[in-house]
Amino acid sequence: MRLSRYFLPVLKENPAEAQIVSHRYMLRAGMIKQQAAGIYSWLPLGYRVLKRIEEIVHQEQIRAGHIPLLMPTLQSADLWRESGRYDAYGPEMLRFKDRHDREMLFGPTNEEMITDIFRAHVSSYKDLPLTLYHIQWKFRDEMRPRFGVMRGREFLMKDGYNFDVDRDAAIHAYNRHMVSYLRTYERMGLTAIPMRADSGPIGGEDTHEFLVLASTGESEVFYDDRVTSLRLGQRDIDYDNRAQVAEVCKEFTTLYARTDETHDQAVFDQIPEAHRKSARGIEVGQIFYFGTKYSDAMGASVVTADGSKVPVEMGSHGIGVSRLLGAIIEASHDEKGIIWPEGVTPFPVGIVNLKRGDSAADAACEGLYKALAAKGLEALYDDRDERAGAKFATMDLIGLPWRITVGPRGLANGVVELTSRRTGESEEMSPEAAVDRVAQIYAGR
Ligand SMILES: Nc1ncnc2c1ncn2[C@@H]1O[C@H](COP(=O)(O)OP(=O)(O)OP(=O)(O)O)[C@@H](O)[C@H]1O
Ligand SMILES: [Mg+2]
Repeated sequence: MRLSRYFLPVLKENPAEAQIVSHRYMLRAGMIKQQAAGIYSWLPLGYRVLKRIEEIVHQEQIRAGHIPLLMPTLQSADLWRESGRYDAYGPEMLRFKDRHDREMLFGPTNEEMITDIFRAHVSSYKDLPLTLYHIQWKFRDEMRPRFGVMRGREFLMKDGYNFDVDRDAAIHAYNRHMVSYLRTYERMGLTAIPMRADSGPIGGEDTHEFLVLASTGESEVFYDDRVTSLRLGQRDIDYDNRAQVAEVCKEFTTLYARTDETHDQAVFDQIPEAHRKSARGIEVGQIFYFGTKYSDAMGASVVTADGSKVPVEMGSHGIGVSRLLGAIIEASHDEKGIIWPEGVTPFPVGIVNLKRGDSAADAACEGLYKALAAKGLEALYDDRDERAGAKFATMDLIGLPWRITVGPRGLANGVVELTSRRTGESEEMSPEAAVDRVAQIYAGR
């Protein structure tokens, strides 16, 4: 992408309405525009990151054996009457009538609808296990939408639902989700800690929230700080291997880590003082095991191997896809702007032409741009007629992890400069070497 042809409406001033750094940088970097309280347009740069996050979520769900589909945003009130949640949900649910006076709602979540799909088509244990998920816009009429995409009213969520023949299989589905979520967040450069939580209006027996530590987080959390150094890394996981998956969950949930809802001071006090921490966190996901709560209410059952009919065991699992942009920025920025982890960056690398109109500089930039594209890397090439300082400021603000700077002086010596956004360190090398280095960094992503 050539910046001269892109749509990147960068703001010079700090927007007054933004209270936290991620909201401020998303507005300043021209990623989003507010259209009404808690409702945003995703401008091209923000949209690219959103799509990238979605892609990672899809890849990790599919790797875990979960199946994507797409349910509508609008739902009929009748389904929610069956589960009893139409009356229970409260003013966060946006309700309206269509022209035929039928009661409708904008889905805040999809347990009822997915149970309806299941009961219409599945009746035998032979079709289980089954986990269906989608990535779809939700609406919750939050009392206080704030912090940009972190607490919107309209927001993008991945929500998945497992159907299993018995409790053991459903617990395995729960564990599988936990591991797939850990992998998802790690690929985004995040440390998200699974914490024992409270189930709220979804209801259920077991639930963990995934929290990213950040001073601007809305949740109060208590943990043994050794939990923050656990990593899944590159290890091979066989998602069908119940014992292996359960073992990973145990590794990540044995040390104390809880939200204020389930916090137990007496247990907490037993942690050695040096490791006892309380902090703030951003909830980026939650998994629930709730058994037959919805299948009982809505008559979703299966015939088992011995011929008896049982309500199907279920759980539901959500990732805050749009909130993740805010969470990643809260966790990764400096005073100049965003620092995207390589996994989610809108462009892998930026090219800054220090002297547009200089034929050697122009040709070298074009050459780099094409050589990167040939390796599957779409650079953002700042080909505008601007001062170098302004170009650097834009690149720093939008946070591409790598920048190649091209100028006549370096080219006279056969070199360009490769700079890391995170460390600020620069290295001179030939344009070919710079392309190879960037390709190497992104190999396998
Ligand atoms: N208003 C919102 N704006 C953006 N993302 C949200 C919002 N509400 C929930 N999410 C995201 O969707 C995920 C799954 O939804 P869930 O039903 O667990 O939310 P929740 O527990 O009600 O969230 P919260 O406690 O923050 O209100 C959450 O973990 C969060 O990351
Ligand atoms: Mg939650």
